[in-house]
Amino acid sequence: MEAQIQQLLAEVQAFEVHTADDLEAYRRRFTNKKAIINELFEAFRDLPGDQKKAVGKPLNELKQLANTRLEEFVAALANESTVERPHDLTLPGDAHRPGGRHPLSIINRRIVSIFERIGFTVAEGPDIEDDWHNFSALNFEDNHPARDMQDTFFLSRNPDWLLRTHTSSVQVRAMENGKPPFRLLMPGRVYRNEAISARAHCFFHQVEGLVIDKGVSFADLRQVLQYFASEMFGDTVKIKMRPSYFPFTEISAEVDVTCRICGGKGCNICKYSGWVEIMGCGMVDPNVLRNCGIDPEEYSGYAFGMGVERIAQIMYMVPDLRLYSQNDLRFLRQFERI
Ligand code: DAH
Repeated sequence: MEAQIQQLLAEVQAFEVHTADDLEAYRRRFTNKKAIINELFEAFRDLPGDQKKAVGKPLNELKQLANTRLEEFVAALANESTVERPHDLTLPGDAHRPGGRHPLSIINRRIVSIFERIGFTVAEGPDIEDDWHNFSALNFEDNHPARDMQDTFFLSRNPDWLLRTHTSSVQVRAMENGKPPFRLLMPGRVYRNEAISARAHCFFHQVEGLVIDKGVSFADLRQVLQYFASEMFGDTVKIKMRPSYFPFTEISAEVDVTCRICGGKGCNICKYSGWVEIMGCGMVDPNVLRNCGIDPEEYSGYAFGMGVERIAQIMYMVPDLRLYSQNDLRFLRQFERI
């Protein structure tokens, strides 16, 4: 038995473990319950006393060595899978997703850059407004329905603080704080007290435009909007202005563009009319100019306001407004490379 123990000692020492399979083979040969070392311990019990003396010590040493080696092998294998692997330069790298812009940011930037190219500059105003800037200065009658709690989020009454319902409030701030001529673009978030659905949300985004100078006409407005529509939707797009009403413009219009999905033939995006509405606009009402300290005899101007969600919907065919604010990566990742 002594000779066998010596041979096993040598074998344990020489054993190499590189894979999980090697480790398993090592266990089966040396350290499992039914492995050779345990068998030797059983045989040891039956040995006569004088032989026990000679064999006991080397046998215990063998067992200890086998267990120590086992621990070493287990540790080395664990190390290899966590530490060694990143240094293997032949492995393919970990893919890093670059991230992307939100579709509303993409569209917002495009709108801004289209207007910047023809001399507009960006102005901003606060999301929390007073009654004057959001309503009164813009010629809203005292009993106008938009002033109702049902439509507007009021933060306080007397004095009235509210979440702006449109970016037109920024027109007022710009005109009050500066001197004409103005050529401004005013992007921002707006809030309305609406039940959230596929078509309505309690907050959304607008871009407002304002041009005030001597001799500005409705024809100028139309030209600028045709330019915008062509840059945004492509050269073949046509625009149509329909008479409308806003308290702060006189005359007022709503602007439609030919549906880019069906090219004007009619589809369910344009409700088979061939046209989709993209904004409201008009000539700034003389009352509004006066409210902001500008003489309507000397100056005239136009304004327009469009919904960013609406333009993004047309560009990307987004069927449900709620998608913009749900942070669903399956939706957002579609815009990564744009
Ligand atoms: N403020 C309007 C809205 O929220 C949009 C709008 C219409 C803005 C006509 C304008 C305009 O500047 O001239 O629906």
